[in-house]
Amino acid sequence: MNAGPVITAGNVRDLEEGVPSVVAAEVGGIAVAVWRGKLYAFRATCPHEQGPVGCGRVRTPLVSDRTGTAGTDESRPVVICPWHRWEYDLGTGRGVRNPRAALRTFKVWQEDDTIYVDTSKRPGREG
Ligand code: FES
Repeated sequence: MNAGPVITAGNVRDLEEGVPSVVAAEVGGIAVAVWRGKLYAFRATCPHEQGPVGCGRVRTPLVSDRTGTAGTDESRPVVICPWHRWEYDLGTGRGVRNPRAALRTFKVWQEDDTIYVDTSKRPGREG
């Protein structure tokens, strides 16, 4: 059983690319996912209508530039909620189409193959 703000969240070798795994029910459900070699952690419940965003899928968003050229932005993966397909930026938690919809994200890292999530910190925050 995990306790405190830092929890263990499984083994990175058990994660399938782009398929979140829901862990830590004791703290309300947190999903961890790996995409292009980077780990992400986020609240498993969607801020829209409490759908199971932790059972969604990760992908890179399509973007287009001013010339109309389309491509994908590998640096900004999104998770797609399976209920109404709202997308959330996994770096910031911000809703792609509705920036006021915010998915809580967490600091996540691995030591050896074990995944750790600090449930008190957002990504990129130290101290
Ligand atoms: S509940 Fe997630 S998009 Fe509606």
